[in-house]
Amino acid sequence: MQPPPASLPLLSATYLSHLLFFLSILWFFLLYLIQWRQTRNKHLPPGSMGWPYIGETLMLYSQNPDSFFSKRQKRYGDIFKTHILGCPCVMISSPEAAKAVLVSRAHLFKPTYPPSKEKLIGPEALFFQQGDYHSRLKKLVQDSFLPSALRGYVSEIEQIVLKLLPAWENETINTLQEMKKFAFDVAILSAFGAGWGVETERIKRLYHRLEKGYNSMPLNLPGTPFNKSMKARKLLNETLRRVIEKRRERKKQDGGLLGVLLGSKDHKLNHLTDSQVSDNIIGVIFAAHDTTASALTWILKYLHDNEELLEAVTKEQEGIRRGIIEENREMTWADTRSMLLTSRVIQETLRRASILSFTFREAVEDVEFGGYIIPKGWKVLPLFRSIHHCEDFFPDPEKFDPSRFEVPPRPNTYMPFGNGVHSCPGNELAKLEILVLLHHLTTTYRWKVVGEDDGIKYGPFPVPKGGLPVRVIPRNN
Ligand code: HEM
Ligand SMILES: *[C@@H]1O[C@H](CO)[C@@H](O)[C@H](O)[C@H]1NC(C)=O
Ligand SMILES: *[C@@H]1O[C@H](CO)[C@@H](O)[C@H](O)[C@H]1NC(C)=O
Ligand SMILES: *[C@@H]1O[C@H](CO)[C@@H](O)[C@H](O)[C@H]1NC(C)=O
Repeated sequence: MQPPPASLPLLSATYLSHLLFFLSILWFFLLYLIQWRQTRNKHLPPGSMGWPYIGETLMLYSQNPDSFFSKRQKRYGDIFKTHILGCPCVMISSPEAAKAVLVSRAHLFKPTYPPSKEKLIGPEALFFQQGDYHSRLKKLVQDSFLPSALRGYVSEIEQIVLKLLPAWENETINTLQEMKKFAFDVAILSAFGAGWGVETERIKRLYHRLEKGYNSMPLNLPGTPFNKSMKARKLLNETLRRVIEKRRERKKQDGGLLGVLLGSKDHKLNHLTDSQVSDNIIGVIFAAHDTTASALTWILKYLHDNEELLEAVTKEQEGIRRGIIEENREMTWADTRSMLLTSRVIQETLRRASILSFTFREAVEDVEFGGYIIPKGWKVLPLFRSIHHCEDFFPDPEKFDPSRFEVPPRPNTYMPFGNGVHSCPGNELAKLEILVLLHHLTTTYRWKVVGEDDGIKYGPFPVPKGGLPVRVIPRNN
């Protein structure tokens, strides 16, 4: 036998490496095949993704969102996919599915906001949190807006109303702008507590500079809107830190959300850092004022358009006024609890106008949902507005009819303040300030809409285009 050629070990090494190479290719191919089959078996919800990147954004933003939603809901059902603002998303318009996302399976869907908003408000604010830190912080925020805490604000809110309304007399006002002023003052009151006037003018000024950047691109270059807002945010940070320092020094935390945050006894939260406190103060000011101002603007529109209803509301408020005058006292929390018709008008306004048309969540992993798969990272949007306008739950949904709330709505069909862990802690405050303002407005004044009804602006909350200019005149009894 010839000895094997010296080159054989070399050859077999080459052979082996070829084999390995081939095997690994095969392996990757198999992996790919398995993955491909999995994605194929993964059953995405029906729907159209539109054009790459821009998706269906243009379609959503160039038409009434109601028809965008209802067209797709009719075609695809209560769960459908689409693509807006650069993100694949799943829209959800059945009460059960919305409840699953917001309540029962909330841990699988984290809140998500545009990056500029998160940076400007402050990343440690309540909205952006999830899990244990969120629930502890939420408890504190809720404590500061409990009815027992709000009682003390009634006469303060009344003072704000009584200062504001006379300036409207015989004037044409922009309802939305005036309501923003009002809701902003109430937000400041609830953040810092009654009687805390220190630096509030500066805080207001800086906040208004800050909010201009909320919907900007997060581009931090000199001169961009975002950069200007970040500057205001820095100054606001310093101002708030001074306020916090003063309150910590005095060993007395005083009122408002700030008092509750500084006085926290939750041992796991320890004591909140200055930036945790400021992010949450700014967060609440943000959440409290444009929402409430839009609601108030719609209420004035609906009452203006429904004369009989306005008279009925006025009658209810006059009854309460008489009681207050007879007993020679200030308005109380109990008075606001007896405004039953007016409260139904608020409920119906929040349904009909649906201030938050929808909210954003993001799947934290691949989630099996209603027979479909929602892939990790996809946005999920519960469509409050579609649910509030579904005729199965609210017959003749376009009609403004407060009497429909004489019986409670079906569970999970009415969510003006959201649902589950992230639902609105400010809902009682919002209703309270609206009631106090309506009490004085309806018993003292009448308002006439100026100009033509020119539709709705979504920016981002729906409001009558032009902000509803009205002429306010004293009411002749
Ligand atoms: C009519 C007025 C208001 C409406 C329609 C409204 C609506 C909502 C909704 C729907 C949510 C839930 C958002 C989501 O799940 O993604 C929410 C959250 C929130 N709201 Fe309101 N809100 C109003 C007024 C207020 C007021 C007056 C305050 C403050 C005092 C406030 C503070 C908050 C906060 C801090 C959150 C975040 C809660 C969390 O993430 O745990 N809101 N609001
Ligand atoms: C507003 O007009 C009414 C009636 O013309 C008048 O009685 C009232 O004094 C006016 N109020 C103000 C503040 O000018
Ligand atoms: C504004 O932009 C400049 C340049 O990028 C940056 O140095 C500065 O820190 C920005 N301002 C703020 C407040 O972030
Ligand atoms: C606000 O100040 C704190 C320090 O107290 C700092 O950690 C935080 O980054 C500041 N936030 C902004 C937006 O400047």
